[in-house]
Amino acid sequence: MSTKYAFFEGKIVPIEQAKVSIMTHALNYGTGCFEGIRAYWNESERQLYVLKLREHYQRFLHSCKIILISLPYSVDELCKITLELLRKEGFRQDTYIRPLAYKAETGIGVRLHDLKDEFAIFATPFGKYIEKEEGANVGVSSWRRINDNAVPARAKITGAYINSALIKTDAMMNGYDEAIVLTQEGHVSEGSAENLFIVRDGKLITSPVTEDILEGITRSSLMELAENELGLETVERCIDRTELYVAEEAFFCGTGVQIVAITQIDHRPVGMGKIGPLVKQLRELYFSIARGERADYRRWVSPVYEPVPAT
Ligand SMILES: Cc1ncc(COP(=O)(O)O)c(C=O)c1O
Repeated sequence: MSTKYAFFEGKIVPIEQAKVSIMTHALNYGTGCFEGIRAYWNESERQLYVLKLREHYQRFLHSCKIILISLPYSVDELCKITLELLRKEGFRQDTYIRPLAYKAETGIGVRLHDLKDEFAIFATPFGKYIEKEEGANVGVSSWRRINDNAVPARAKITGAYINSALIKTDAMMNGYDEAIVLTQEGHVSEGSAENLFIVRDGKLITSPVTEDILEGITRSSLMELAENELGLETVERCIDRTELYVAEEAFFCGTGVQIVAITQIDHRPVGMGKIGPLVKQLRELYFSIARGERADYRRWVSPVYEPVPAT
């Protein structure tokens, strides 16, 4: 199945009609912001569950605020539109949802103020983002992460993803599956499009939100899960590059990447060089919750379709 519709300029239209001019401000200057949301198909319930829908739109509106985009929709309305679009698409498989807010003016001039804003959503079936989910080979990038005082990583700004694209392509061309990026000061920030955790002395460690990371929803979800389900508190602190080399476990997390075990960093094995027990446990927990299989975590997921009554 492929994408048939989009929410565009205030209504759901066939995807072929959701087009913008080459003069569009956001296309010329990268003046837009977006979200990436996943929905998981539960075959036994014949249900599609959207993971952390509200949280994504809360962050989306924060991104909009940072780049002076004002939308006529509340978080609740954005959730409602998304569920409506998904019902219309009728996907019965894992799906990726892409909301996009952008400066829609067609004139010349780099700025954020006094420009028309628009909003669109499309959704598409989607599988893995990184092929080797149980053992990624990763390098520390020679590129640096964008800085909050230049291009804020906290907001999911379209133009800012040139940084991620440079990092990812460089990593792949050098034979890696992904890269870890350092801040301007040289601390570990995150992956090209995912947050990072390491395990040292049995403790979960991740970079704080002041280290030019995107404040990941998967990151905070995993911190909650680790604490509630495994009794493990996460330490948020600056991470040095060489701590990556001596970590017992390391993993990426994010909506796109899901949870990916890192088994090699800069040609050094992480721990025993294979997926570790903690990453394994977190992956199992995460996927069962995402597919709506855990009644105690139903608040994390939004069903798309009317439930099928039991016969
Ligand atoms: C740069 C960056 N960091 C981290 C993440 C993970 O964020 P989330 O878990 O909210 O998807 C993403 C993915 O959207 C990202 O693009």
